[in-house]
Amino acid sequence: MKKIKIILATALFTSVLFFKPIMAQNTEVIQLKEGWKFHKGEEISAYQVDFNDSKWESVVVPHDWAIYGPFDKEVDKQVVKIVQNNEKVASEKTGRTGALPFVGVGWYRNTLDLPNLDNKQVLLTFDGAMSNAIIYVNGQLVGKRPYGYSYFYFDISDKLQKGENVIAVRLENQPFSSRWYPGAGLYRKVQVIIKGQVSFEHWGHFVTTPYVTDTLARVNIKSRAKGENLRVETHIKDADGKVVATHASSTQFGDEFVQDLAVVNPNRWGIENPYLYTAEIKLFQGETLKQVENVRFGIRNIAYTREEGFVLNGQPTQFKGVCLHHDLGPLGTAVNRAALKRQLTILKDMGCNAIRSAHNMPSLEQVELCDEMGFLLLAESFDEWKKPKVKNGYNLYFDEWAEKDIVNLVRATRNHPSIIMWSAGNEVPDQHGSVGVKRANWIQDVFHREDPTRPVTVGMDQVKAVMESGFGVLLDVPGLNYRVHLYEEAYEKFPQGFILGSETASTVSSRGVYKFPVEKGINKKYDDGHSSSYDLEYCSWSNLPEDDFVMQDDKPWVLGEFVWTGFDYLGEPTPYDGFWPSRSSYFGINDLAGLPKDRYYLYRSRWNTEDETLHILPHWNWKGREGETTPVFVYTNYNSAELFINGKSQGVRTKNDSTKLDRYRLRWMDVKYEPGTVRVVAYDDDGNAVSEKEIKTAGAPHHIELSADRTVLNADGEDISFVTATVVDKDGNPCPTADSQLKFKVKGNGSFRAVCNGDPTSLELFHKPTMKAFNGKLVVLVQSSTDTGPVKLSVSGNGLESGQLEIQVK
Ligand code: GAL
Repeated sequence: MKKIKIILATALFTSVLFFKPIMAQNTEVIQLKEGWKFHKGEEISAYQVDFNDSKWESVVVPHDWAIYGPFDKEVDKQVVKIVQNNEKVASEKTGRTGALPFVGVGWYRNTLDLPNLDNKQVLLTFDGAMSNAIIYVNGQLVGKRPYGYSYFYFDISDKLQKGENVIAVRLENQPFSSRWYPGAGLYRKVQVIIKGQVSFEHWGHFVTTPYVTDTLARVNIKSRAKGENLRVETHIKDADGKVVATHASSTQFGDEFVQDLAVVNPNRWGIENPYLYTAEIKLFQGETLKQVENVRFGIRNIAYTREEGFVLNGQPTQFKGVCLHHDLGPLGTAVNRAALKRQLTILKDMGCNAIRSAHNMPSLEQVELCDEMGFLLLAESFDEWKKPKVKNGYNLYFDEWAEKDIVNLVRATRNHPSIIMWSAGNEVPDQHGSVGVKRANWIQDVFHREDPTRPVTVGMDQVKAVMESGFGVLLDVPGLNYRVHLYEEAYEKFPQGFILGSETASTVSSRGVYKFPVEKGINKKYDDGHSSSYDLEYCSWSNLPEDDFVMQDDKPWVLGEFVWTGFDYLGEPTPYDGFWPSRSSYFGINDLAGLPKDRYYLYRSRWNTEDETLHILPHWNWKGREGETTPVFVYTNYNSAELFINGKSQGVRTKNDSTKLDRYRLRWMDVKYEPGTVRVVAYDDDGNAVSEKEIKTAGAPHHIELSADRTVLNADGEDISFVTATVVDKDGNPCPTADSQLKFKVKGNGSFRAVCNGDPTSLELFHKPTMKAFNGKLVVLVQSSTDTGPVKLSVSGNGLESGQLEIQVK
């Protein structure tokens, strides 16, 4: 069995106190990636040691068993009334959970070779398992965890033997258990941690920075460990590994060891400067060093004030946030660091500064990346409490598990500076009635008990009800989902002094699709299953981006927003949940492949205050619309611009207050289509031309252009380059309606991992090396191998010159 071993603590440490080398017991972390056997379906004896799994499929974990499809209308067909969507009568719905086969039982087995168990404590950890996990070691039941998003672990020391040990995991996903694609399987990291019997508790450190100024920070560290005659010693190291503070003694309160360290002239963690320190925390028993753990943290202070809203390191900071579901499009829910990093890189360029992990615990990789890249993270927990949204949702587990799930969420992630608020729930139906108020109070108290340093919110949609009941009054931060028309009233009624747009917009669009006439539409549907990228369509409960912008710009007590959503996700194909084959969302600012829709530039024009945004829509290939009215919009950070069609001015537009839209978009509503060139010239506030952009009517598809987000990958077998393939004409102009069937070949030290074109109605499978371009584009995922050297991708299509790209694996 091949496993990755990471040695956390080095064997030799020189103790500052005793000036002599002391041996610490190693803490060994083994990530169980390889060696897994998987079976879809029930096998009642698969927990037994001698069960023969040789015919099972070999898989690598993280693994999502359902993403390989096929898409099937029957998977999640239901006749249902979605109350959250204001529906009054039940109707047939499809694609709600992605039309992928996540329901049912799945088994995983692996073996673990442990040559030496003397005096060892062994933990088996899961960052999440979808769902209803039952864990066995050597045929014995270890424990259960129903909630698929929860981090959990078991001490399996007493179930182990020297030599080979068998781990078996049974998972089961119920039908009607989710409102989106939840994925299936061991979709997050699984690890074995081997450490000494005398060692820190798992997740046993809590690092806070209760006092921070430019010149001095107090770093308070609480660490938990059991045993006689223990002592804790900490060195704080800066990002270069230089020790900047040392504390050689700790005060013990029962099993808790408390230290206060002073960091002089601290480098504060923030959005532009995500600076991280590491606390090297040592546990001694007498003079013997027992364990060393490294905890990464940031020095920063946060406050929520009536006067200035959210304040980060003394700077009032509005949330320019997006909600993200956990699936990674064509990868399904199988966690992948490169894919998460690419998402955050795209969002960073948009000027986004915050993420809400809707509606569940974020992956630990995502939390780490938010720390490293400077994102504020609103870490959410539940989409349901005790009252159901879906029959087999979290309501089944709430009473027994809610507190345990919150405890694990907080303890596993509390040292991450990126987390600036907890969310106890999203639009929970418990918003109604006095029992729900008590529940809200209790849950918030659990968060406070576990972490007194961060406030708690709930995304509320039943705004009238929560104003009446007291539910909204008791929350640290009242979060409103949509319902901008009630912000003012909620602000008056609630005592906190601010309102968070915990979920906003839910504007819908398909990348590269434009509908005529250009007009606002609520729940608008077309025969092709697409929504218009003129960004004027939304749902009965939701709104357009500008409806949120005006609140944030005009009401200083609005803390900012979390747009639904940063990227399209699998499932919830509103407004097409009654239309097959729609199977993924239309809400994304970026599509399921991660390609920006036009809306990306609207948010960028407002959020990215450093770089220029000058974006024209729609595309200019409208054969058959000659002479017809074809409005042109420009999303830009400039206030004013002039539009030219084939050199003829269409007039100057300037942002103005006449309508909400005109405050933020430049619109030429009467343009008549003629093929050729659309050019926009931007003016500064003195009327000087400062920038320009143009797009052209493309000719016939001619060849394929490839561009990679990264051309150098790590030789770790899991790094991914996302290569955008664009069908272009002979002059290199993108062909915005091309739908050629493309084929992919990967040679060398990498492999084809998946492909996605962002079309929410496509039933082509992500893992097959062929797919149609959608509006001229798609994205191919090339994965590194563990060997170094070049990888070559070639993309071909009938009648097109193929595209080639070389990536280096290092
Ligand atoms: C919200 C809900 C989200 C999503 C969204 C779609 O009400 O919280 O999970 O369903 O609507 O607009």
